Amino acid sequence: MKTLESFQLAGKVALVTGAFRGIGQAIAIGLAEAGADVLLIDRIDCFETVQQIESLGKRAIAVRQDLAEMDNEKARKIINQAVDHFGGIDILVNNAGIIRRSPALEFSAEDWKAVLDINLNTVFYLSQAAARHFVDKHKPGKIINLASVLSFQGGLQVPAYTASKSGILGLTKALSNEWASQGINVNAIAPGYFKTEVTAGIRADPQRSAAMLERIPAGKWGELEDLKGPVVFLASAGADYLHGTVLSVDGGWLAR
Ligand SMILES: NC(=O)c1ccc[n+]([C@@H]2O[C@H](COP(=O)([O-])OP(=O)(O)OC[C@H]3O[C@@H](n4cnc5c(N)ncnc54)[C@H](O)[C@@H]3O)[C@@H](O)[C@H]2O)c1
Repeated sequence: MKTLESFQLAGKVALVTGAFRGIGQAIAIGLAEAGADVLLIDRIDCFETVQQIESLGKRAIAVRQDLAEMDNEKARKIINQAVDHFGGIDILVNNAGIIRRSPALEFSAEDWKAVLDINLNTVFYLSQAAARHFVDKHKPGKIINLASVLSFQGGLQVPAYTASKSGILGLTKALSNEWASQGINVNAIAPGYFKTEVTAGIRADPQRSAAMLERIPAGKWGELEDLKGPVVFLASAGADYLHGTVLSVDGGWLAR
């Protein structure tokens, strides 16, 4: 296979969670730009993401589904929806995630459970169901998890988020160890600070925003476009020998 061909995703089907807006939407569109058809899962109807993918001449189907309180059976049904619509999947991107901010001393049990549930538990069950599908069909597959710079750092007033994203690092390695020999690549992307709703509060505060920008070697917030190349790479044959790695896409934040 020629070098450029190895990054093509034509004929592949991707399932992207949390594809209504933000990073998940950009990832879904990026995968479609590289040639993939995409199943979009979100608790909100992803009509705009569908439109953008269809305008690229690729197929997109949106499934409205709350990914909280996942279990083996629910995850299996979600993967089966992809089988029903597209005949199967080749790429799973575990993107859906939430953040709750509060000092650790006051952090509620409800927030703790909600964050760990969607950011970590759901990722495990969907990965397990996708890997079962790949193994049963005797085909390779790619699983890409959304980590964070808080997979490596503690952060402030986000204990559940930090715990969940640190858990993603361990889970990515644990699953890749078990599944690498079966042609399944499990890797992660750790975004730095991107222009999404999640960071809107910080960006709206001139002092905090200036402090963040001063700390980012690239001197600017991440643009959603910056994640397309990394995700396409990890989803492609070009990354066939990458297992259990985390690609930091952070303007140099972690290197500092
Ligand atoms: N924005 C950043 O700077 C940044 C940095 C590091 C990591 N991340 C990670 O990237 C991922 C996406 O972040 P984002 O900034 O685009 O967030 P966002 O809040 O803009 O989008 C998250 C998407 O997930 C969906 N979602 C949330 N909970 C869901 C549920 N229970 N069921 C179904 N869908 C659900 C939302 O509807 C939304 O479409 C998250 O895992 C986040 O932790 C983001």
